[in-house]
Amino acid sequence: QKIELSIEQIDKGDYEHFMLKEIHDQPTSIEDTFRGRISMDHSKIFLGGIFDVLPKLIEARRIIILACGTSWHAGLVSEYLFEEYARVPVEVEYASEFRYRKPLIYDDDVVIAISQSGETADTLAAIRMVREQSEATILGICNVAGSSISRETDAGVYTHAGIEIGVASTKAFTAQITVLTMMAFLLGHRKKHIADSDYVQMVKALTQVPEKMREILKHEGFIKDVANKYTNVTNALYLGRGVLYPVALEGALKLKEISYIHAEGYPAAEMKHGPIALIDENMPVFVLAIKDDSYEKIISNIQEVKARNGKVVAIVTEGEKTIRKIADDVIEIPGCHRALSPLLAVVPLQIISYQIAVMRGCNVDQPRNLAKSVTVE
Ligand code: G6P
Repeated sequence: QKIELSIEQIDKGDYEHFMLKEIHDQPTSIEDTFRGRISMDHSKIFLGGIFDVLPKLIEARRIIILACGTSWHAGLVSEYLFEEYARVPVEVEYASEFRYRKPLIYDDDVVIAISQSGETADTLAAIRMVREQSEATILGICNVAGSSISRETDAGVYTHAGIEIGVASTKAFTAQITVLTMMAFLLGHRKKHIADSDYVQMVKALTQVPEKMREILKHEGFIKDVANKYTNVTNALYLGRGVLYPVALEGALKLKEISYIHAEGYPAAEMKHGPIALIDENMPVFVLAIKDDSYEKIISNIQEVKARNGKVVAIVTEGEKTIRKIADDVIEIPGCHRALSPLLAVVPLQIISYQIAVMRGCNVDQPRNLAKSVTVE
């Protein structure tokens, strides 16, 4: 049975906008997404919706991920995780491009459609094309139960983010990453690429993400002060490496969507192949610079920006000292397993976009020209 709700019937509590509420919902929506799916001792992940197709995933020649918008960014994050932990080749495709190409689809491919609404026209058409052309197994990761994509896939895992109203996706994105992370860890363990003891540690670390997110949200006032300084910019650059590169893309998308500031996300090392030409004293560069194996390299990227008088806002690991000395603004996030850093690092970027949009007087929840669900081409 379908329940129709108007936006007015959904409570945004004490929050000024749905987007702000949804940013704050994230610790809980992530807990809701892994509730009942992780054993108490962290030694098991249960994903009932894909239990029957797990052998297909284990045997998969390749995973093809189809999505649009923010969901596509979640897919890109998972590419790093599936590749590293489950050792399976992954292709992440814009559904709108994939459906009009002549892609090679093998029967032993596993296709994963990611969609908050489960109704995006291009994503739906892309999985229909896969169905027509192959015997590939098709999975769905949707937030809306009973949606078209969830009905037209062989199996899937729902994100339990709850209803998302803000056009700019926030909690659906982190819930999608949570599901994909669980899938990558589970698959890696089943394929014996993750040892039992590491698995327990990684799963436990995932369960600690909501608490760490709550820590970040406590510093919202400070993040707002940082955002205040960049309200009047006309361009912004977002840089990240590895698993944080898609988070840079997502940060830039959030800013574009709701504040109408031109923003671009780039893999930090690609800066020298173009974007560096844009850097001057008016250009803020948001750098995801947490302590992982690319930390030293990201410090050099920050120095390159500073040498050209750019403004650097760095998202760093708590207690970090080197970047603090060179960046204009530093926002700390709690330390965590590298695989889980996208879930935490995206939160300050969401808050920055939100605050900048509010200060510019934009319609945060319903930005101009955008729709929550794009059901036409
Ligand atoms: C629209 C929304 C985005 C969303 C994208 C994909 O552009 O404004 O927030 O990421 O569609 O939507 P889906 O429902 O398939 O995740």
